[in-house]
Amino acid sequence: MEENTRKSITLVKKGAEANLYLSEWGSVKVIVKKRIPKKYRVAELDKKIRNYRTIHEAEYLFLARKYGVPTPIVLSIDNLSNIIVMEYIEGQRVKEAFEKADEKSKKMICKQIGNQIGRLHKNNLIHGDLTSSNMIISDQDKIYFIDFGLSFYSNECEDMGVDLYLLKRAFFSTHYKDANKCHSAIRTGYIEEVGKKIADRVFKKSQQIERRGRYFVGRSI
Ligand SMILES: Nc1ncnc2c1ncn2[C@@H]1O[C@H](COP(=O)(O)OP(=O)(O)O)[C@@H](O)[C@H]1O
Ligand SMILES: [Mg+2]
Repeated sequence: MEENTRKSITLVKKGAEANLYLSEWGSVKVIVKKRIPKKYRVAELDKKIRNYRTIHEAEYLFLARKYGVPTPIVLSIDNLSNIIVMEYIEGQRVKEAFEKADEKSKKMICKQIGNQIGRLHKNNLIHGDLTSSNMIISDQDKIYFIDFGLSFYSNECEDMGVDLYLLKRAFFSTHYKDANKCHSAIRTGYIEEVGKKIADRVFKKSQQIERRGRYFVGRSI
């Protein structure tokens, strides 16, 4: 990052893996995501992991965007300091927006979420960490997906089902009252993208996974 163009820097979030800062590039607001060292890992391996995840996340932010899913534009990657500089999305996280939204808006938000997931899955891209904290609703009411650090490619129904199941579980823990209605609106949006036949298969898989309950074990939301 060029020091002379960076005007100010404010810590937005101290995460388990990375610190996020709001900064400016010239007149453009940017988010700087810097993966921080983990002391419990062997230093050399730690460096490799952070390096891999930085490049991986930047790549998937780009790929999702290519498939028509709104994501922040990646402006720069520094693989020595493990930094991604990306467009700052003006708006609020779906997590907070949801609490204030009326029924009709909630339905629209969920349908759009379903559309975006459908678009990812249609291209065999599994997000891997779908929660309402990893979605930002822009001031123009567009839903952006972020946090692609755990994303991967798969054409397996099971992986798509897990993606949807984890989102359902996250909604049940965060937006309990609306979770069932949300799930059904997400499904409507998903069908619009992938068609009923595929959607039925993936949602059925998701239900089976839920019944198996295996993902409740040892995973935190
Ligand atoms: N491009 C962005 N524009 C605006 N806010 C962002 C952006 N990227 C991240 N954030 C904010 O930072 C938080 C953490 O970012 P995220 O990539 O999800 O990191 P973590 O891996 O720590 O969860 C998000 O929940 C959101 O509030
Ligand atoms: Mg996140």
